[in-house]
This record gives sequence, C-alpha cells and structure tokens, in this order.
Amino acid sequence: MLLYIYDKRCPAFLPFQFPNINPSWFPFHLHLSPNMESPIILNYFTSSLSCFCMILLYASTLNPVFALENCTFPAIFNFGDSNSDTGGLAAALITPTPPYGETFFHMPAGRFSDGRLIIDFMANSVDLPYLSAYLDSLGTNFKHGANFATAASTIRLPVGIIPRGGFSPFYLNIQYSQFVQFKSRSQTIREKGGIYANLMPKRDYFPKALYTFDIGQNDLGEGFFSNMTIEEVNASVPDIVNMFSTNVKEIYDLGGRSFWIHNTGPIGCLPYILANFLSAQRDSHGCAKPYNDVAQYFNYKLKEAIVQLRIDLPLAAITHVDVYSAKYSLFSEPNKHGFELPLVACCGYGGEYNYSNSVGCGGTITVNGSQIFVGSCEHPSVRVNWDGVHYTEAANKFVFDQISTGAFSDPPIPLTMACHHV
Ligand SMILES: *[C@@H]1O[C@H](CO)[C@@H](O)[C@H](O)[C@H]1NC(C)=O
Ligand SMILES: *[C@@H]1O[C@H](CO)[C@@H](O)[C@H](O)[C@H]1NC(C)=O
Ligand SMILES: *[C@@H]1O[C@H](CO)[C@@H](O)[C@H](O)[C@H]1NC(C)=O
Ligand SMILES: *[C@@H]1O[C@H](CO)[C@@H](O)[C@H](O)[C@H]1NC(C)=O
Ligand SMILES: *[C@@H]1O[C@H](CO)[C@@H](O)[C@H](O)[C@H]1NC(C)=O
Repeated sequence: MLLYIYDKRCPAFLPFQFPNINPSWFPFHLHLSPNMESPIILNYFTSSLSCFCMILLYASTLNPVFALENCTFPAIFNFGDSNSDTGGLAAALITPTPPYGETFFHMPAGRFSDGRLIIDFMANSVDLPYLSAYLDSLGTNFKHGANFATAASTIRLPVGIIPRGGFSPFYLNIQYSQFVQFKSRSQTIREKGGIYANLMPKRDYFPKALYTFDIGQNDLGEGFFSNMTIEEVNASVPDIVNMFSTNVKEIYDLGGRSFWIHNTGPIGCLPYILANFLSAQRDSHGCAKPYNDVAQYFNYKLKEAIVQLRIDLPLAAITHVDVYSAKYSLFSEPNKHGFELPLVACCGYGGEYNYSNSVGCGGTITVNGSQIFVGSCEHPSVRVNWDGVHYTEAANKFVFDQISTGAFSDPPIPLTMACHHV
C-alpha cells in the first residue's frame, strides 16, 4: 500500500513511500479521504501536532520522495487531440493559417494556438526537442520521440470524419496502430543504417520513454453537438474511459512503463460551447455548468480507471494529472494569474464570446459588402482562449507551470520524476 502524508499547515506537499502501512501504528487520529483512491491521502487533523514535528517525523522514519533522482527520459511518445497536436492534422488534412503560431514560431507551426502547447513546454523541461508529428513526412526527426496526436481526435471511433464531419480519422486506436508501426519500423531503419538511421529512437528508448496522453474532450464534444442530451453524453462516459484504459494496457504490453495522463479540461468554459449553448446554466464564473459536469464525471471515471490500471499494470509508473483544476483557475481567478476576458476568444468573430460557427480564426467573412479578416486580438499574452476552442500559449505556459511541479498530480511528484514507481 502507498501512503501520502499531507499536512495543510506545512508549506509543501510531501509524499512518501511506505509499504504495508497499518493506520493503527499512528498514535494520532487519521482522517481517510472519502474517495478511497490509491494512493490514499491521509489528512492529519490533529491540532497538537505542529508542522515542525511532522518534518522531524518525515526526516527520521520515512523515505521522502524528494530524495528520488530525476528521470532521464530519452523520448516522449504522445497520444491525443489538438491540446497536444504539434503538426499531425496539419500534415495530413488541415493546416492552420496565420495568425496561428504568430506568438512564438512567427508562422503557423501545425499547432492550434498562437504558440507553444503544454506538450512543448513538457518536452523542453525534460531537455528534449519539440516532438515531430508521426504523420509529418517532411523534415521530421523522431530520435527523441513522436507525436501521434491529431487535432479533432477522439478516443472512440467518431461518426463524422473530416471532410464529412468534424473529427479526425486518427482516433486513439489508430494512433496506437501507428505507434506499433513506428516501434517496429524505426528499428528496421536503424539496423539498415544510412541517413535515416540516426533520426530514429534507439531500441532501449521505448521502455525508458515517457508516454503522455491528453484526449477525451472531443468525445464529449461529439456528443454535445449531436442530438444527444447531456444525460446521454454523460452515460457514454464509462465506455469512452474503458476504451482509453484498453489503449494504455496495449502500450504497456509493448513495453511502455512511464505514463503521464491528463484528465479533460473544463469544456464548458470554452467559447465554442458557450456560444452554441446560450441557454445552458452558467456557474458563478460564467462557464456552462452542465457541460463541465460531464467533463468532471469523465475525470472521475478516468481517475477510477487509473487506480485499476495501477493494479493491472504492476510495473507501470502512472501519473494522473488534474489539468481540469489547473485550467479552471484561469476562469475562476483570471486576474490573479495575469489574464483577462477568459471566456472570450482572442481570434474569432462575433457575439459575447467572439466566436462564430461560420468563420474561424484565420478566415475571412464578408459583412455588409466588406471583407473582414479574423485575426488576433491585441494582447494574446493576457488572454486564455485563442480561437474559441484552444488555449493561448500564455495559458498553456501557465497550465504547464502549475502541473509540472506535481501539485496537480497523483502521485504528487514532478514531471521530472514521473518515471518513479512510488
Ligand atoms: C531535477 O530537474 C529539475 C528541473 O530540471 C531541477 O530543477 C532539479 O534541480 C533536478 N533535481 C535533481 C535532484 O537533480
Ligand atoms: C439533429 O436533429 C435534427 C432534427 O431531427 C436534424 O435536422 C439534425 O441534422 C440532427 N443533427 C445531428 C448532428 O444529428
Ligand atoms: C453522470 O452520471 C453519473 C453516474 O450515473 C451521475 O452521478 C452524474 O450526476 C451524471 N451527471 C450528469 C451531468 O448527468
Ligand atoms: C450592416 O449595415 C447595416 C445598415 O447600415 C447596419 O445596421 C448593420 O449594423 C451593419 N452590420 C454590421 C455587422 O456591421
Ligand atoms: C475578437 O476577434 C477579433 C478578430 O476577428 C479581434 O480583433 C478582437 O480583438 C477580438 N475581441 C476580443 C475582445 O478579444
């Protein structure tokens, strides 16, 4: 059994590994958290025990995680949707046009943002280059990983695939098949030698790599924009999460060991939902509550599934990351974090949310005979939402800074230590 000790009076969240714990060993009252997920969070509500005592206890009897070393991830393999697509959909189907990419790359860079995504900041922080999209056949280097994510991807097979519908054909099962191909063919290419050999990962990178996931938002979106009721979409969540788990197991079976799994964000705070469901109930920050409720149910089932995965995959280090909470703080306390107008798209057109179904960021619309280009707002660096669906680079950086420390993770260890099986 794993135990994490958390004392609200202490400045840091200090996790420990402690096998075969028996709560009766502790001389003070323990409060078990109501949802019994693993690892169990124990809150010490003993007024007499000072923070100082706690630190002494940590130092003398337990084995603190901060003694663990940083991991060396030689590669990242990412699976997901537009939240982490670094050029897949752009290579295969739809290329973002200016002003996409203007903030950092100063040109469209296959990302559905004005700049970098969370996955870019993650790669950078573990000293790896930005990930090349698996689908990109031009100028790609896969030595330190590959990105299988494409914008508009779902976990389940979508009904309407581009161009007959809004979703990517590269749903999670296909991304997995591509990974299977990649793993075997990259080794064939290495063995052959020649100019491509050095652009491929070494064989031993696969078990040492970090496997990252950010997917599920479009499964909910697909339901919301079909004729399903909120309750029907909600009822589809367990099946969606099951499909996700199957995928993680398959990657484990191929030798993956370190997994970093994002939950889904507050979809009900995004302009494309807000503008399309004007009559949906709003919460105190203006987000569409029923839509966020479904996202939260997805996240609840995902967390439950990850608890089961840790049992089923005993050699895996699985980090669950509560991206929802990190993102939600951009809507609940935008000013505190240096942001404004979080519910309004920076690059969009029309209405309260600066979002229209008939023209998107980078498009043009004819209004009263004159053409209007849908470009960037003046200060994307203080804005949360870029184009109605996706976050700005500034927001992505904020979320990365929050989640990379481990403060939103279970177990609560930083990204640089996510290979540790605690
Ligand atoms: C681990 O990496 C982080 C970020 O690169 C760095 O700040 C920290 O000092 C490293 N810790 C150890 C124990 O090397
Ligand atoms: C929803 O139902 C309406 C009326 O039956 C139909 O016109 C529309 O195409 C449906 N939309 C979807 C996405 O199925
Ligand atoms: C979703 O389903 C769960 C389980 O049945 C239920 O507890 C929850 O209230 C539902 N949420 C919504 C928004 O329908
Ligand atoms: C288009 O022109 C009409 C008449 O001059 C005006 O009332 C309307 O506000 C204009 N629409 C937009 C979007 O500018
Ligand atoms: C809405 O989008 C337009 C681009 O079409 C941009 O110029 C404007 O600044 C945006 N509005 C807000 C409030 O950000």
